[in-house]
Amino acid sequence: MPAIVLIGAQWGDEGKGKATDLLGGRVHWVVRYQGGNNAGHTVVLPNGDHFALHLIPSGILTPEVTNVIGNGVVVDPAVLLDELSGLEDRSVDTSRLLISADAHLLMPYHVAIDKVTERFLGNRKIGTTGRGIGPCYQDKIARVGVRAQDVLDESILRRKVEAALEVKNQILTKIYNRRALDADQIVDGVLEQAEGFKHRIADTGLMLGNALDRDEVVLLEGSQGTMLDVDHGTYPFVTSSNPTAGGASVGSGVGPTRITVVLGILKAYTTRVGSGPFPTELFDEQGAYLAKQGGEVGVTTGRARRCGWFDAVIARYATRVNGITDYFLTKLDVLSGLETVPICVGYEIDGKRIDDMPMTQTDIHHAMPVYEEMPGWWEDISEARTFEDLPKTARDYVLRLEELSGAHISCIGVGPGRDQTIVRRDILA
Ligand code: IMP
Repeated sequence: MPAIVLIGAQWGDEGKGKATDLLGGRVHWVVRYQGGNNAGHTVVLPNGDHFALHLIPSGILTPEVTNVIGNGVVVDPAVLLDELSGLEDRSVDTSRLLISADAHLLMPYHVAIDKVTERFLGNRKIGTTGRGIGPCYQDKIARVGVRAQDVLDESILRRKVEAALEVKNQILTKIYNRRALDADQIVDGVLEQAEGFKHRIADTGLMLGNALDRDEVVLLEGSQGTMLDVDHGTYPFVTSSNPTAGGASVGSGVGPTRITVVLGILKAYTTRVGSGPFPTELFDEQGAYLAKQGGEVGVTTGRARRCGWFDAVIARYATRVNGITDYFLTKLDVLSGLETVPICVGYEIDGKRIDDMPMTQTDIHHAMPVYEEMPGWWEDISEARTFEDLPKTARDYVLRLEELSGAHISCIGVGPGRDQTIVRRDILA
């Protein structure tokens, strides 16, 4: 049985929850492998309530699934405990949530530094979620981070926080004119929080390896998206981890040869939150139309998402860097009612036509979309359950996206409901 990677093909918010729902009962493990509480998805609880999750994998709502916060994730203990108690208050069983001993813990100084850095950057800011994600990964790479396992040894924890604060307090007080933070206060706080999660700390890489040996299905769930990847995205307007499929192996401890399916989630148009280049962005009433029809507001920050037409250059790039085997095309219903639907098939940069992602940041900032117009459809497609149920023009749109993207579109979302999905090919078959 395979390990499957689920990855956003654009700038995140493609609607990954639909794919998780679809795989539902056939998955035994759901693993987050990167990011932290910068991610966000709304889940519908069994009693119909909506609940926003930022850190905990959505599989927590399926009783038979074991959920893992992998080693590649950065965990804010306060957010973790908050989400757990929010779920428990609504009678969701949270006993099947494990945290990798190697996952890094997000400390109060990471949040402080994220916020002051963004303010300091002014109009060059990245538009981060302000959750401390970048500074926590900086510490991981600088080898001064605090890991989940450190809460099991108070003296190590104390030494690590004291060492980190020696530098952080200099930065906070001398550069940013902020108050210094107290090591004892932080350590005591973390130890108190750890009472609520230390029983969940485990050697999750080993457990996942054993699960795959037992033929269990492991779903490795990426957060953010391909274009927010620190290596392959629109650097520096990216997050500080690797959402792309290669990151799934690193961030979970599952070896790359065990991953046999990479399911890319592709929205039928494009959105982006935060700063950075976005060639097909619309600044007119058409952009506002997509935002309104698609309900494009961030779950984590409540910020309005920037909207634009489908960009096939990005889709082709996502297919390549992730090795996508199948696509799940989401929100096709949002495009109903348009006279024509433009697709960006390439870019024009300084008078030259380009079909692939430009090599340099300068070029992507200068990229002008080259559009192909497809005839639209007026029908309400939210009741369609087979590909043939779709109007011909909608089918043609999907087939053109498939051709341009270079991977099979196996599933199509036609509405927010769990059953509003067309399956053209079973990705686990
Ligand atoms: P950070 O991840 O908070 O450091 O933010 C870096 C960039 O990634 C910003 O442009 C954010 O808006 C963006 N970002 C982070 N998480 C998400 C997400 O889940 N969806 C969409 N954009 C995100």
